[in-house]
Amino acid sequence: MSTTTPGKPLVHALNVTKSFHSTQVLKGIDIDVHSGEVVCLLGPSGSGKTTFLRCINQLETINGGRIWVDGELMGYDDRDGTLYRLSDKRIAQQRGEIGMVFQRFNLFPHKTALQNVAEGPIQVQKRSKAEALKEARELLDRVGLAERADHYPAQLSGGQQQRVAIARALAMKPKLMLFDEPTSALDPELVGEVLDVMRELAEAGMTMIVVTHEISFARDVADRVVFMDGGVVVEEGPSKEVIARPQHERTKTFLRRILAEQHESAVPQVPVADPADG
Ligand SMILES: Nc1ncnc2c1ncn2[C@@H]1O[C@H](COP(=O)(O)OP(=O)(O)OP(=O)(O)O)[C@@H](O)[C@H]1O
Ligand SMILES: [Mg+2]
Repeated sequence: MSTTTPGKPLVHALNVTKSFHSTQVLKGIDIDVHSGEVVCLLGPSGSGKTTFLRCINQLETINGGRIWVDGELMGYDDRDGTLYRLSDKRIAQQRGEIGMVFQRFNLFPHKTALQNVAEGPIQVQKRSKAEALKEARELLDRVGLAERADHYPAQLSGGQQQRVAIARALAMKPKLMLFDEPTSALDPELVGEVLDVMRELAEAGMTMIVVTHEISFARDVADRVVFMDGGVVVEEGPSKEVIARPQHERTKTFLRRILAEQHESAVPQVPVADPADG
């Protein structure tokens, strides 16, 4: 059950910094995401989007700042202002409340779709096998894959695998879903089916942070977009507003480039004969 206090953000990131060796890749990120909100994180390659998502669910440790999820300080215990690293067990518990879907479908290859989805609830949450399998079937149905429950990942298309990955994350009943370019490794014709599942999830009220270059998804589904560049938040606001009228030059340049690329890929590569010519 969520313990979120009304009005308090579900995700509260405050002045988050992260360095790899001597390079600072997050330079003080402040982001709030409220319960039920969908936030798209946009930005050029290397701007720190993946790193920030990984910091939220403690796949990376942060060097400064703090991240709270549902009122809990992630990774640390704060005793009178001094931070103490939590035990691995506590961190695993915190992480268990956050679902993450990556660019590459990382399903267990030797398990069926159904087994992939039921694995976490059975192994990690120690729930009854019968109940976990029943719920896994319902989740596969929800992502449109009821018929593929007994298929192995290699027998599924990229789009289907990614939908299994979403069902698998949902099986843990997360408070928050993080998506890191979930459609960018897919053939163009498979992108829509994954975005449709994400759109339904958003409509059902899931809190989501989505790194994506799918500008139309960001505009139509996200409540807000956050544009990052060089490890800082350059601009943020209601998605339709920022996408239609970006204020900062870097946001404008980025959006122009992405939209031009998407427009190019939407235009047929082979010239289509005009019947009027024949
Ligand atoms: N494990 C790591 N070790 C060293 N440097 C890293 C590591 N992970 C990321 N970086 C660096 O941190 C910077 C931010 O990377 P990150 O992957 O967060 O960017 P991104 O915005 O997700 O980019 P992309 O759009 O290409 O996925 C990059 O310069 C990257 O090379
Ligand atoms: Mg990335």
